[in-house]
Amino acid sequence: MRTETAPVIRLEDYRPSDFLIDQVELDVKLHPTETRVIATLAMRPNPAGRSDAPLVLDGDELNLKSVALDGRVLSDEEFEASPHSLTIAQAPRQAFTLTIETEINPTANTKLMGLYRSSGNYCTQCEAEGFRRITYFLDRPDILSVYTTRIEADREEAPVLLGNGNPVESGSIDDSGRHYAVWHDPHPKPSYLFALVGGRLGRVAESFTTMSGREVELAIYVEPGKENRADYALEALERSMRWDERVFGLEYDLDVFNIVAVSDFNMGAMENKGLNIFNDKYVLASPETATDMDYAHIEAIIAHEYFHNWTGNRVTCRDWFQLCLKEGLTVFRDQEFSSDERSRPVHRIAEVKTLRARQFLEDSSPLSHPVRPNQYREINNFYTATVYEKGAEIVRMLKTIIGEQDFRHGMDLYFERCDGTAATVEDFLNAFAEVTGRDLSHFARWYEQSGTPRVKVKSQYDEAGQTYRLDFTQVTPPTPGQAKKEPMAIPVALGLVSHDGSPLSATCDQVDERGVFLFDKAADSITFTGVTSLPVPSLFRGFSAPVKVSLDLPNAELLVLLRHDTDAFNRWQAAQTVAMRLLASLSIEGQVADEEIDAFSTALCAFIDRDAENDPAFAALVMTLPSEADIAQEIGQDVNPDAIHRARSELRRRIGAACSKRLQRIYAAFTETGPYSPDAASAGRRSLRNACLDLLAAADPIAGEALASAQLEAATNMTDRLASLSVLTTIPGTVRDDAIAWFGERYRNEPLVIDKWFTLQAAIPEDQTLERVKNLMQHPAFSISNPNRVRSLIGSFAMLNQVQFNRADGAGYRLLASIVLRADELNPQLAARLLTAFSTWRMMEISRRNHAEEALRSIAQKPNLSRDVGDIVSRSLE
Ligand code: PHE
Ligand code: ZN
Repeated sequence: MRTETAPVIRLEDYRPSDFLIDQVELDVKLHPTETRVIATLAMRPNPAGRSDAPLVLDGDELNLKSVALDGRVLSDEEFEASPHSLTIAQAPRQAFTLTIETEINPTANTKLMGLYRSSGNYCTQCEAEGFRRITYFLDRPDILSVYTTRIEADREEAPVLLGNGNPVESGSIDDSGRHYAVWHDPHPKPSYLFALVGGRLGRVAESFTTMSGREVELAIYVEPGKENRADYALEALERSMRWDERVFGLEYDLDVFNIVAVSDFNMGAMENKGLNIFNDKYVLASPETATDMDYAHIEAIIAHEYFHNWTGNRVTCRDWFQLCLKEGLTVFRDQEFSSDERSRPVHRIAEVKTLRARQFLEDSSPLSHPVRPNQYREINNFYTATVYEKGAEIVRMLKTIIGEQDFRHGMDLYFERCDGTAATVEDFLNAFAEVTGRDLSHFARWYEQSGTPRVKVKSQYDEAGQTYRLDFTQVTPPTPGQAKKEPMAIPVALGLVSHDGSPLSATCDQVDERGVFLFDKAADSITFTGVTSLPVPSLFRGFSAPVKVSLDLPNAELLVLLRHDTDAFNRWQAAQTVAMRLLASLSIEGQVADEEIDAFSTALCAFIDRDAENDPAFAALVMTLPSEADIAQEIGQDVNPDAIHRARSELRRRIGAACSKRLQRIYAAFTETGPYSPDAASAGRRSLRNACLDLLAAADPIAGEALASAQLEAATNMTDRLASLSVLTTIPGTVRDDAIAWFGERYRNEPLVIDKWFTLQAAIPEDQTLERVKNLMQHPAFSISNPNRVRSLIGSFAMLNQVQFNRADGAGYRLLASIVLRADELNPQLAARLLTAFSTWRMMEISRRNHAEEALRSIAQKPNLSRDVGDIVSRSLE
């Protein structure tokens, strides 16, 4: 379908379905190329729908074999069918049973939507609109049905057969070599939560007793032989279940909870009821193959999918515009879980880093959209950082504004009201409005208005009156479809810090008992009294709102916060702000005064001396400069990535040199001893040591090369091995070449490790990388049809390698464009995601901008683009 012809779906056009489906019986006979599906649907007209409407079921690339109404096979005149719809003009006006038989080809399904095969196993992916690739259906999230699934397969090919809900029955089929299993899910659910799996799989299991004493069998299924790599995920699942009981009082509601890891998956994982399906990179881990970050991601995603059981499944979404209702809330919940399990400030900093790198970027690009979009052409393109991450920030702000207790009460009421329903953002907010008696209509603007608000703060100290005033103004820049913006309700968690860290007893009426000022006008001021000396304001503590802040404070005062603030987030933020100022000036002007760099290095050295050993994970974050992409975003226009790369290298070199004694000392002191453990404290020590290595190598590549190769040899875990290889990739020479070759050979049979190897090489900021990437596409481990491989090599090149993707000669853009077009023929979702790397094109300097535009136009001109790619390319060019 051409871009222009894809219809626009609008929130305002929502109306209830004309028919309901109360029960679904699916009979699936698995076959590699000719899978037969018989769907028996117990249907009735919807009292809330139109009474004269035809029955129109959704389909997608389906092959209809037969259709029967109340047991009577319909003749060709009684219905109209195409691969993408099935219409019965004269549907009954009372309850009826519709029986539909379709045939599908899972082996040919390269889109990885619907029923497909991964490493020979059968699996499904139905969110958002994949169920219609299995059978004709009212494939929309407000149709809730009770499902019974019978799966039949060759016993050799698929000894394991899994479905949603609880296992009911299983057995052999005579001596045909085939067997079957029946699963029943008593909880009504939308079709996007349907799943089935059939294959040869290994299993790890554990039993779990819920808070009310029910026994649940937890199991994770993986490629046979890799069972022990699922132990960490299984343990993370138990911790997640315990946490949801303790923190939200939410209990699991089936007898079994199954997770299956597959190696071909478009996203991270999927929360199908009782049968989560995961991208294997978010399940499998061993010290030899996974980094500390991998372990943290596994923990977070296992939790995320589990938490969806309540926020997403028990309460689901009325329509896809409400996606943030489940995703934003569930991200918030998994973030809270990780914060409780690990270090809260360290985790908060990590969250904010991703939010800024992905969501702020998206919000300043042509793809900017509200957390609740009001229109879309292709829903798959709205599983975005804005819906997920900004969606989570909104929930967090709500909690900040109303307080912990009321937040919990609101959540309780939300579940009480909405359990078993397909709900809206309004239903969610109403629960909190009701328990607090607050009017949340202004706050609701966060869901509607796109773009990142900019807050400017000016400070004024009156020594004689001992008062301190802060003047706030806010502006949200225009975004696609929203030229004019209203002020937002912005919670500012704040405090004052004295220059020597001694406590201040200042007070301010406009700040509530939780230390929060609600800034909800275009401009506002607050005044503190009893301020006995000039303070430094610590604003947006814990990053209390997803806004960009500019402050009229000199670097020296910000560095007071690094030293003395009680809020760890703002200590980190202060160092980042100073670093960013230096980096932006260095990039734009090519230089900054030595004293400024020296002042920053000195503050960092002092910080390292005082704090590094006490909180290594935090220290590592403070010592890591903003990324090249962060700097580009800060500069925002006429960006020259080469200048940014030079600036960042220069500042790293200067800091590394200024702090080298200390860095060496810590590097030596934090040498790994004893067996590997992925816990946060151990991971923090490794991250500090590797941050030291990075700075030392920046200051002295020869010494750095020696240190990194020694570490590569001595490493007992993937974190340290990968960190040293990463440092080596930036130092050209035979040592590097040998290390890369050695690593590639050693992990030849470990696709998830080869992904890391692809990523490191794709990120090398030198001209030869383009050829290197093209060559790696010929590597036996690479496959254009595997999303993990493509993202590791191509996605990393486009998103992590600022200088080479944005080459001045446009070759980086052309390479990506050609790969997007190739990928689009197999897997449109994957292609569309890669294409979003172009979202920064308008901020580049003119010659790069021209090259990027040309590459985008070359894509737009191609006939037969998928709807996914067509939508992204046309919005990118608008
Ligand atoms: N709903 C999944 C999650 O956030 C993400 C997903 C979306 C997976 C669409 C597959 C397809 O947990
Ligand atoms: Zn989710």
